Amino acid sequence: MSDFANRLIAWQKIHGRHDLPWQNTVDPYAIWVSEIMLQQTQVAAVIGYYSKFMQRFPNIASLANATQDEVLQHWSGLGYYSRARNLHNAAVTIMDEHKGQFPQDFEMIQTLSGIGRSTAAAIASFAFNQVQTILDGNVKRVLARHFLVEGWPSSPKVEKELWLLAEKLLPEQGMVAYTQGLMDLGATLCTRSKPKCSNCPLNGSCKALQAQRVHELPTPKPR
Ligand code: ADE
Ligand code: SF4
Repeated sequence: MSDFANRLIAWQKIHGRHDLPWQNTVDPYAIWVSEIMLQQTQVAAVIGYYSKFMQRFPNIASLANATQDEVLQHWSGLGYYSRARNLHNAAVTIMDEHKGQFPQDFEMIQTLSGIGRSTAAAIASFAFNQVQTILDGNVKRVLARHFLVEGWPSSPKVEKELWLLAEKLLPEQGMVAYTQGLMDLGATLCTRSKPKCSNCPLNGSCKALQAQRVHELPTPKPR
C-alpha cells in the first residue's frame, strides 16, 4: 500500500470524523442521499436536512413513489434543486430497471442521474467496499499540494493527471477509512486557507510543504 494511504488511514482512525449521520452504515441509499446533499452544501448545513429527508424517504421505494413536488419540498433550503430532481429520477430508474436494488457495478452507478465519477466512488467505497477513488474539490487540493501538481485542477489536463495519481494511491484494504480520510484531511487540516501542516499525517512527504509553496496551491482558475 502507498505510504500516502497508510498514513492517511491511520490518521483517519484516530483523528477523523466518525459520527456523522451518514457514517456507520453500508446502506447505499443512505450514503447516496448524503453524498448528493454534500456535493454543494457544507456538512453543518446538511445534517438537519438529512435527518428529516431520511425520515420522510427512508428507502429507494418511498422516494420513487413520492411526487417530485414533495421531494422538492423536503429539499427546500438546500438549494441547487436539480440535485433533488436527479435524485428522484434516479430512484425511479432503480425501481424500474434494477428491481429496487441500488446497483453495485461501478459503471452502472454512474449512469444514474446526478451521479458522476467521484460521487459513484464515494458510494462504491462506503457501501460496497470497492477500491475506487473520489476526487472532489477538497481532494484535488490535497493532491495538488502533496504532489505539487501545478495548473488549475479542474482543467481537463490537470484533472486527468489527478485522477491517475489518485488511482495509484488507492489501498487494497481499508477503503472506508481511506475515503473518509481524504474527505476529513481536506476539511480539517489541508484547508484552503491556513492549512494546519504541523498536524498533518502527510507532512513528511508533502512536496508543497517542502518547497514552501503550500499557499500557492492549488493553482487558481486562469482569468
Ligand atoms: N463531503 C462529501 N462526502 C462527505 C462525507 N461522506 N463525509 C463528510 N464530508 C463529506
Ligand atoms: Fe496539506 Fe500541509 Fe498536509 Fe501538505 S502538509 S497535505 S499542504 S496539510
